[in-house]
Amino acid sequence: MGMKVLLVGSGGREHALAWRLAASPLLERLWIAPGNPGCAAHGETVPIAADDVAGLTAFAVRNGVDLCVPGPEAPLVAGLADALSERGIPTFGPSAAAAELEGSKAWCKELLAQHRIPTAAHRTFSRLSQAVGYLEHGASFPCVVKASGLAAGKGVVICPDLPSAIEATQAMLEGGRFGEAGTTVVIEEFLHGPEASFFCITDGRTLEMLEHCMDHKALCDGGVGPNTGGMGAISPNPAVSERTRRLVERHVLLPTVHAMNREGRPFRGVLFAGLKLTTGGPKVLEYNVRFGDPECQTLMPRLCSDLLPHLHAAAVGSLDEQEPLVWDERPACTVVLAAAGYPESPRRGDPVSGLAEAEALEDVHVFHAGTRLDEEGRLVTAGGRVLAVTALGADAAAARNRAYEAVSRIRFEGMQYRTDIGIAAVEGAVRHA
Ligand code: AMP
Ligand code: GLY
Repeated sequence: MGMKVLLVGSGGREHALAWRLAASPLLERLWIAPGNPGCAAHGETVPIAADDVAGLTAFAVRNGVDLCVPGPEAPLVAGLADALSERGIPTFGPSAAAAELEGSKAWCKELLAQHRIPTAAHRTFSRLSQAVGYLEHGASFPCVVKASGLAAGKGVVICPDLPSAIEATQAMLEGGRFGEAGTTVVIEEFLHGPEASFFCITDGRTLEMLEHCMDHKALCDGGVGPNTGGMGAISPNPAVSERTRRLVERHVLLPTVHAMNREGRPFRGVLFAGLKLTTGGPKVLEYNVRFGDPECQTLMPRLCSDLLPHLHAAAVGSLDEQEPLVWDERPACTVVLAAAGYPESPRRGDPVSGLAEAEALEDVHVFHAGTRLDEEGRLVTAGGRVLAVTALGADAAAARNRAYEAVSRIRFEGMQYRTDIGIAAVEGAVRHA
């Protein structure tokens, strides 16, 4: 009997996951809620919102779903895995209590500090007077002010000096900036060094490292402009040496999985550590309880193994019985194509063309994110990040060139993208840490 899988989400990450899951010989049926036109090529899309825990649970029960794979964090923080587990449905993702690792930066920092997992020094505040007292007398600058709750990647302000730090803290604690998410703030030390995205899948006992990536968070070339969800990624991360990889596994990911067990919040699913590779070793910037976007679109084309049995094994606690995942040695480069006005106010409804021409290139994959079919069946933009274009290449330069060749074939009005994704890997601009 094949497996019936419910994948949750509607971004490029979910399109990449849908593509890999659909290729599994173990799959019987795949639903994607709510999905996008790209996902629709690999399974049946279902009009249930990604954060509608009750709706998703009812659907899963009604359709005899064998495995639920939530893409984004919101349904996990809202308790989707708990609701499904009560109905006996395995979920590749943590309980709400374990999803606090991403849902509450204050709780995450506390956990890391208690268990001596390397991270930036920090303090947590809910009262403005205490935060200002610390900024005036204890903090050094630059510092980083973070809304503790979920703020769609926007709740982080890097503050060069005291006035900007007070302003950011005040805006969060008293100005209602980021709403409920900003009623507690974390103020932390600014870390220097290249960034790296590390992933492992775990059932709480066994941990399997995935390949690593470098994300590019700023909107514009050279890392300037506002922070976004991610404008592109390259894998492997050129700043990561084998030694760093081992350090992250031993001193960051493994101790975090153990710490979660000791806290009575066992973690299942994919653990995503955003790290700074400092001269003092890798340090955690943040944890996410899901795959990265666009990192997932970069990783999936490099994966040679069948993904489905690993996700299922992590969900049911038998990851130790799985063979290790096999990866394509070749690097992958992903370029995100964003809509005009992204990230502030993305314009919608612009017709998109050239996808088939782009995908005609060997080892190129175009993943949909903010797209939809209009009344006439034309593909139009429907969100901030519209498409993610991934290419594999014999080396990083070849992957990059091919990705940009594919990008040059795609058109929509106001298309924004960075031209320097993965350039660090080509120019050797990033030192191995
Ligand atoms: P976060 O959502 O916590 O990962 O923060 C978003 C981005 O802000 C990170 O990818 C970093 O580029 C930057 N950032 C966050 N915390 C720090 C820090 N302590 N030092 C330097 N940069 C940081
Ligand atoms: N690309 C970073 C993230 O998914 O949070």
